[in-house]
Amino acid sequence: MKNEELVALLKDMSLEEKVMQLVQLPGQAFDASAAVTGMTKTVPERIKRLAGSTLGIHGADKIRQIQKAYIEQHPHHIPLLFMLDVIHGHDTVFPCPLAQGATFEPELTETCAGVQAQEASADGVHVTFSPMADLVRDARWGRVMESTGEDPYVNSLMAAAMVRGYQGTDISAPEHVASCVKHFAAYGAAEAGRDYNIAELSESTLRGSYLGAYKAAIDAGAKMAMTSFNTVDGIPCTAHKRLLRDVLRGELDFDGVLVSDFAAIKELVAWGYAKDEGEACERAFEAGVDVDMGSECYSNHLAALVENGKLSEKLLDEAVLRVLRLKNELGLFEDPYHGADEARHAELALSAKSRALARQAVQKSLVLLENKNNALPLSGGSIAFIGPYADERNIQSMWAVNCKPETNVTIREAVIEALAAATEGSANFASAHFAGGCTLLDNDSELAFFRYHSDTFEEDNKRLLAEALDAAEKADTLVLCLGEGMLQSGESTSRTQLTLPAIQQKLFKAMAATGKRIITLVFTGRPLVLGELADYSDALLVCWRPGTEGGHGIVDVLAGRASPEGKLPMSFPYAVGQEPLYYNHAATGRPRPADAAKPSLFTSRYLDCPNEARYPFGYGLTYGDCTLSPITLSANELRAGEALTASVTVTNTGARTATETLQLYIRDHAGSRVRPVKELKTFKKITLAGGESAVLHFTVTEDMLRFWSANNRFESEPGDFTVFVGLDSATQNGAQFTLRS
Ligand code: BGC
Repeated sequence: MKNEELVALLKDMSLEEKVMQLVQLPGQAFDASAAVTGMTKTVPERIKRLAGSTLGIHGADKIRQIQKAYIEQHPHHIPLLFMLDVIHGHDTVFPCPLAQGATFEPELTETCAGVQAQEASADGVHVTFSPMADLVRDARWGRVMESTGEDPYVNSLMAAAMVRGYQGTDISAPEHVASCVKHFAAYGAAEAGRDYNIAELSESTLRGSYLGAYKAAIDAGAKMAMTSFNTVDGIPCTAHKRLLRDVLRGELDFDGVLVSDFAAIKELVAWGYAKDEGEACERAFEAGVDVDMGSECYSNHLAALVENGKLSEKLLDEAVLRVLRLKNELGLFEDPYHGADEARHAELALSAKSRALARQAVQKSLVLLENKNNALPLSGGSIAFIGPYADERNIQSMWAVNCKPETNVTIREAVIEALAAATEGSANFASAHFAGGCTLLDNDSELAFFRYHSDTFEEDNKRLLAEALDAAEKADTLVLCLGEGMLQSGESTSRTQLTLPAIQQKLFKAMAATGKRIITLVFTGRPLVLGELADYSDALLVCWRPGTEGGHGIVDVLAGRASPEGKLPMSFPYAVGQEPLYYNHAATGRPRPADAAKPSLFTSRYLDCPNEARYPFGYGLTYGDCTLSPITLSANELRAGEALTASVTVTNTGARTATETLQLYIRDHAGSRVRPVKELKTFKKITLAGGESAVLHFTVTEDMLRFWSANNRFESEPGDFTVFVGLDSATQNGAQFTLRS
């Protein structure tokens, strides 16, 4: 449809029709089996007939039927929009976003997002509520799992990559879906890591750290954005006029559809920001929210507010036009079914090619934290795989809404497959034993959706432990398969303890006491306090929520068929009391002396814990052993418009091939605002065979030095800087240069 036709269509619509384009109904209004539920009351027929979009439904035939019936009865035959949370996979589930952050490989993430779009679109989906571009700094917040981590630069690359992957160059193509960037803004800053809480952050932190990744997604063309559940400066983001109209639309130039988060408009009443749902409608609409997801504020109140002149019809028309434009860009006026096609979906879903991609993504996302005496890769002998994740199928996250756990590959399955495929002597384990070891959760654990309780908890665990000891006795090496439960990370899963369930820690101790070599795998959606696990494991591998090909990808790395190369996208603390913990924190007036032997009285420190992370951002071992030469600079002065080159020689002194990620950080020595101690500006991945070396050159330019200055704009300030190139954020491999005006 041409723009004039859309405008003509809009002119012809009644007030009620227009308002209803801005109403998004939970899927169960149309289909009882929808993934997303809400709005407990039955939705009145008049709303169902006209509501412009829905969420939580998929299934090509089902969507075709709903769409057909809807269009036929709609006064202007305007198609319905179908949205879904396709976060890290639809049929084929890729590693969770935090794990994808660990790959430092946006190209890979773009390809994975492309597959998600193909599968979801063939299954009838038009829009995915992804990427979640929220910067995260506090591991107590369960939704860190849905973010790509604590670094604004990595997040920006990843958010843009996801948008490109989902949308391609033309969202009307059947293999693409529209992307909705979320949650605007600063949802990741929820105070104390408690979900749905306020966010307290300064304008300069918001600008300098938090907004960048949303901007990157918008610049990449995201067609939609979603508001967040938190407040900023005391105002709920769903009614934050300055943030939504001035910053998002004005400064970030977003001209797509802005949707509220689920029921967030109605929740303005609970926040005490609106006295009732009518006022909530008025506040959110005035602030610039186009679509009301999951509440009845717009459907019940918007028309009256326009009629009595409290809200302008012009603003209403603009919002409706944005929705119509999105439908048009998706090609729905010509083909209301978009990509929905059962046969195509069956062909695409979990194809061998997509599974191979998912397996590669798992291999690249695993982070090796410890590898004492090269305990990994495994090198023969008898191995016992022990623990609740040894044969666990739920290795996706709670945000893989269409995942069929039976299609996930467990560790046990992958090991058995590897043994069967191995020719005499070629396997990295001669024999394998398996034991559950303990229950995954402590009894009466509170989870995202329910409380876990087992009446036979004690007996079960006694038996499981006996089986584990039995299996351990038969083996030389124990691979302990441990981790958080699937519903312990994700939405509404804030925690004040970042340890594994006590029952798993008990299992770990019993296994460590056998004196056998211990390889520990940790399945998790967030950084954990690893404590004794790190102390007493010979090797420690973070497996995240790996998705469909988890078992294969992990066993590939254990067996040495692939070398680990993941780098932590979030700092792992010594203690929960360090949270929020992030490498790019501000300098302090009283830094603790770097030399631990010097007195640190009245410096910024903890009495009982280091300031630093146990495992810092950017850290991760490989099966090689890469060392870097001191950094050299092509010049020690820089001016705007010029570039200088920072070079290092990287040598893999190990015997095995390794893929390393060289990270360039910059520190600004003095600025008009206190500056972070270090900020990642670029990185390069390189693969080196054992003994091989290479010289890598990085370009440093003035724009890398810009920040939200005391002039309240992004600009660089002349002065001294240190540029570091290293293998993680703790690197001290630096050289100084001066920016001249
Ligand atoms: C979440 C969003 C999600 C939406 C729709 C909300 O509870 O915060 O991230 O996209 O539900 O499912």
